[in-house]
Amino acid sequence: MTKPKWNFDEIIDRTKSNAIKWNQEFMKEYFKYDDMLPLWVADMDFRAPNELINALRKRVDHGIFGYTVPPKSYYDAIINWFKRRHNWAIEKDWIKFAPGVVPAINFIIQYFTQPGDNIIIQEPVYYPFASSIKNNGRNVLNNQLVINDNHYEVDFDDLEKKCKEPRTKQFILCSPHNPVGRVWTKKELTEMGKICNENNVIVISDEIHCDLIFQNNQHIPYATISDEFAQKSITCVAPSKTFNIAGLKSSIVIIPNKILCDEYFAQITNLSIRAPTIFGAVATETVYNKCEEWLDELLKYLWQNFEFLKSFFADFHQNIMVFDLEGSYLPWVDFGKLGIEPKELDRIIKEEAKVCLDDGAMFGKSGEGFQRFNLACPRSVLQDALERITKALKKHIG
Ligand SMILES: Cc1ncc(COP(=O)(O)O)c(C=O)c1O
Repeated sequence: MTKPKWNFDEIIDRTKSNAIKWNQEFMKEYFKYDDMLPLWVADMDFRAPNELINALRKRVDHGIFGYTVPPKSYYDAIINWFKRRHNWAIEKDWIKFAPGVVPAINFIIQYFTQPGDNIIIQEPVYYPFASSIKNNGRNVLNNQLVINDNHYEVDFDDLEKKCKEPRTKQFILCSPHNPVGRVWTKKELTEMGKICNENNVIVISDEIHCDLIFQNNQHIPYATISDEFAQKSITCVAPSKTFNIAGLKSSIVIIPNKILCDEYFAQITNLSIRAPTIFGAVATETVYNKCEEWLDELLKYLWQNFEFLKSFFADFHQNIMVFDLEGSYLPWVDFGKLGIEPKELDRIIKEEAKVCLDDGAMFGKSGEGFQRFNLACPRSVLQDALERITKALKKHIG
């Protein structure tokens, strides 16, 4: 039998590598508890593809690390990846740099809106959206997602109402949607986009999870829907979730509209952050050119982890609802029907089970009673976490 090229079951000790996910002091400060098995922040415990490690090593061996400019091959790698995997024909001039998607969202808010303007989000959603809006002195308008038949959907009437408010300037779309795991269909995206376009609301499409798609779902880049959609949107992507290189700070902002693009570039040039670091550029180019096979294997492993989690909870209790995972490695689980008060549920998981999950309430009030898991760990770690959680819950639900 041939040895598999990748071993996602391998346990790698990250506790001494300054990984935020495994840092007990950080967890203590942030969550109040420590000594926890971490399945929280969207960061994977898998060894990176060898092609990436070798490319970084080769660059280290060169021995000189001065100011750098990304080569044409960096842009080609991005263009080819999005063409190949997402059927999106991106032009080189549309591609701009950001040290992260969250910084990019902050820049876009600062450069294209004024204090006091409204920005729409759809809770429950990735919590830095709301904090970025508030920290910049803008107002959050929450077009809350609705649950229909155990499936999250968009309230289009409410979206329209919020877009029509005179000071509404932007809508931050999370596509795929963290934490509810939805991969929006073309029909849904088209409907959302039409409403925004009619009301001159610019769409910031955060597509950082676009490569992590399961089963028959298909990610549709928002800007591919029509030229009007492209011209009235800014898309944020990154190789960081797909290949677990968030520590290399190398995100990508795609702006087909020349006026918006020039303004964004002028501003980041002003801040002197217009290009990735040497290692960020090497990593981006390498993963997009050489690590596709690793990603395809990773997706299979993550899906098996999801099925494992789903059947574990199904065997344990019929009142725990695991939502379908169409995209991302962050399943969304509703514990609300267990009859435990949401704060107490979070305490039981963190303090008694000693597992660190992201409490659903962090993603907005509509997330109370939910918990967000992170499946990007060896299956034995996931099993350990699930056993700890169910053992602790048993004491409270009889
Ligand atoms: C939807 C979404 N956007 C952005 C980020 C973070 O992006 P970055 O680390 O590039 O700022 C995350 C991380 O989990 C995310 O889930």
